[in-house]
Amino acid sequence: MQDSKKVSVKFRDFNFAKDINVISKWHVEHLEKNFPTQEFNKELFENDIKVLPGKKKIILYNGEMIGFLWVNTIYNPYEVQKIGQIKYIHIDPSYQGCGVGIEVMYYSEILLKECKYIELGTHVDNHVANNFYKKLDYKPYRITYRKELWDKK
Ligand SMILES: CC(C)(COP(=O)(O)OP(=O)(O)OC[C@H]1O[C@@H](n2cnc3c(N)ncnc32)[C@H](O)[C@@H]1OP(=O)(O)O)[C@@H](O)C(=O)NCCC(=O)NCCS
Repeated sequence: MQDSKKVSVKFRDFNFAKDINVISKWHVEHLEKNFPTQEFNKELFENDIKVLPGKKKIILYNGEMIGFLWVNTIYNPYEVQKIGQIKYIHIDPSYQGCGVGIEVMYYSEILLKECKYIELGTHVDNHVANNFYKKLDYKPYRITYRKELWDKK
């Protein structure tokens, strides 16, 4: 993708059989590049996308598949209103940094317009994603703590 290019995208519904291989490939490449020590089960990842609920959209540019968005709606017992979740967003690396992510996040607000809040999570070391969400005015709300109990080796 050329520099300083503002890309305007379209959306279509996700089709598991047709689209999952590309999404898995992007995800694996993302982990290998940015989180090489992260354990990953491709079958579980693909099965989650297949069976868990939500609206799943393919992002298109000039008819080409350049990203994936998955949003969902939940009821939280501590909140009266419905909560929207961004379950997954991924832009093809060749199209990252062109404003596509921002456009997709605004589209997710349309998909989730009946919700009072949108929540999402990302790895604390995913600096690109953390910058991205801060730019979109997402604020830290809950923290996940983790303690290691055993080592596989
Ligand atoms: C995170 C992601 C969705 C952002 O999408 P994108 O289309 O590249 O983002 P945009 O071009 O719309 O950038 C919007 C803002 O995000 C931030 N950002 C984007 N890329 C960045 C980078 N490489 N470094 C730092 N900040 C970055 C900037 O604040 C940017 O605004 P600016 O261009 O005015 O500086 C994309 O990088 C991606 O798919 N990453 C891999 C998967 C992932 O990490 N998903 C999210 C976590 S689960």
